[in-house]
Amino acid sequence: MTIERTLSIVKPDAVSKNQIGEIIHRFERAGLKVVAAKMLRLSKERAEAFYDIHKNRPFFNDLVNFMLTGPVLVQVLEGDNAIAKNREIMGATNPKDAAPGTIRADLAESIEANAVHGSDSPENAKVEINFFFTPAEIYSRA
Ligand code: CMP
Repeated sequence: MTIERTLSIVKPDAVSKNQIGEIIHRFERAGLKVVAAKMLRLSKERAEAFYDIHKNRPFFNDLVNFMLTGPVLVQVLEGDNAIAKNREIMGATNPKDAAPGTIRADLAESIEANAVHGSDSPENAKVEINFFFTPAEIYSRA
């Protein structure tokens, strides 16, 4: 068992479609626990800082602007192999490539409006969790 934590974001498209519960249910059904959560609206500066690793990609401005279109739900998921498990449940970045039964195949519309974000490595999980949460806001149930 490798208990990990990962950052998950329910993006503005899924929040506006009232799919928060549907998405969290999929994480919980797979054995992941929500150990921290909050809803917020990103500022342009915060969205740019969060996606800093993509700042030289052609889609950067569109991505940032999309993340400003409405509130998001940020959460920390904890569980065995949480980083890979979350990515498996989300499916491929582009919903067209996502396996049937994954969040993005079932709920997402496009590579931009793709319902969820999840950390892609232990290093990034640590950075992304610290970006949104203080240690006191995380309620480990490992
Ligand atoms: P996310 O997991 O939040 O990480 C970066 C995001 O950029 C990604 O999901 C997509 O929503 C978005 N994006 C938009 N266009 C592209 C693209 N061509 N390749 C990868 N990611 C893209």
